[in-house]
Amino acid sequence: MMIVLGADHGGFIIKEAIKKYLDETNIEYIDIGSYNTESVDYPVYAKKLCSKIQDGTAELGILCCGTGIGMSMVANKQKGIRAAVLSDEFSCEFSRKHNNANVLCLGGRVVSNEKAMELAKLFLNTQFESGRHERRIAMFE
Ligand code: RB5
Repeated sequence: MMIVLGADHGGFIIKEAIKKYLDETNIEYIDIGSYNTESVDYPVYAKKLCSKIQDGTAELGILCCGTGIGMSMVANKQKGIRAAVLSDEFSCEFSRKHNNANVLCLGGRVVSNEKAMELAKLFLNTQFESGRHERRIAMFE
């Protein structure tokens, strides 16, 4: 499974922490930037990341900004993207099981590096339950 990662300056540090987890577990990923803590505009990175899911390059994405909110707002405007801003394990698990979220949004000013890694791990290892949830997701478009 290919993962795509993106961040602005507010999410750069947790993106790097998540990359450490992905490297340790041999999960393949593409990092679309940004690549340092210089101030950048999060919509640029949200759109770039979503395009990698839309064109089939990656299955799931992780977007990091200061709060996760701006990234999720932009991502949810992109066709076929279901982004969830998360900071707790229960919501993270059910965003995959029930909502088939394909983009996890995290806030570098909200969660620690350790929490970001835990949430990324849970998100990537939880499967969509399908069934009745499939019908509801079909109603999104
Ligand atoms: C940048 O300061 C900040 O606004 C951004 O990282 C994010 O939190 C937006 O939602």
